[in-house]
Amino acid sequence: MHDLAETAKALVAEGKGILAADESDGTIKKRFDSIDVESTEDNRRAYRELLFSTEGAEDYISGVILFDETIRQSAADGTPFPKLLESKGVIPGIKVDKGAKPLALAPDETITEGLDGLRGRLEEYRELGARFAKWRATYSIASDKPSEYCAWTNAHALARYAALCQEAGIVPIVEPEVLQDGTHTLEQSSKATGRVLQALYTELHDQRVELTGTLLKPNMVLSGYEASDRAGVDEVAEATLECFYRHVPAAVPGIVFLSGGQTDEDATAHLNAMNARGPHPWQLSFSYGRALQAPALKAWQGKPENVEAAQRAYYHRAKMNGAARTGMYAPEMEREAAAV
Ligand code: 13P
Repeated sequence: MHDLAETAKALVAEGKGILAADESDGTIKKRFDSIDVESTEDNRRAYRELLFSTEGAEDYISGVILFDETIRQSAADGTPFPKLLESKGVIPGIKVDKGAKPLALAPDETITEGLDGLRGRLEEYRELGARFAKWRATYSIASDKPSEYCAWTNAHALARYAALCQEAGIVPIVEPEVLQDGTHTLEQSSKATGRVLQALYTELHDQRVELTGTLLKPNMVLSGYEASDRAGVDEVAEATLECFYRHVPAAVPGIVFLSGGQTDEDATAHLNAMNARGPHPWQLSFSYGRALQAPALKAWQGKPENVEAAQRAYYHRAKMNGAARTGMYAPEMEREAAAV
């Protein structure tokens, strides 16, 4: 358990956070479609190499979440990706769930699959270099959602996954994502997020999971993306903190937010505003996918001559989020960098 707690702490080291580069085949295809690049194995490999080999990113990135295909791939010079990351002091992680599927007898709700055979897969991933893992459950907000049924079945599965990870010497990141699509208010988001977290920590406790060797990867509490009068940065920071103070035990070493559908600058500003109100019982950090990658993907366009520009874009977002870890980010830093 000592090693697990050490790894969890290293993942939320001061000024650093996690890059989520674990897009499944379907998701990476969607991202590549947006820049008109075909999702072939080699294009996926080249894109991930661009991210992982960005010089200096390790100053702000503690760990990278990989997909099953990616953890088996190598850089152009033959170095396996997990080795490349380790050589920079970056901890390799792995997405192990098999996706959110329709929950039986619960229209429009999901249950995350992937427990069958998980013990064996974790053993293999550890051999391949993974030191932490991720499992994502999703919930939507409506007058009757998330249902108790959806909250508890997903909490149960998340805890089963977490226990198996700890047994395998892998730090489980538990990711209950309350989707922020729709027109809901900040209060509705807070209520749904709190409900889901309460069920999750009950199951983790009942299934003997040692919280010091885990990380939580949640959504922030936001107004719905389609709501007309959306809450600003300070309101979001305060509502999110209030919700987590109520529902997340202090034994959890870190909360690493996902970015969801936020713009990259919003995701940074929200994290910064929360850290500016610290110190808190847990480290507040990031495990962003889109909010770290979007400008890099756009700059790359699948062209080798754009690799440097894409790496600069990725480095910049990593640095901005690194600053948000200590509450030192200011939107002017975006423009200063653009002027260089
Ligand atoms: P986003 O930051 O793009 O939401 O991705 C994080 C993630 O890993 C979702 O599972």
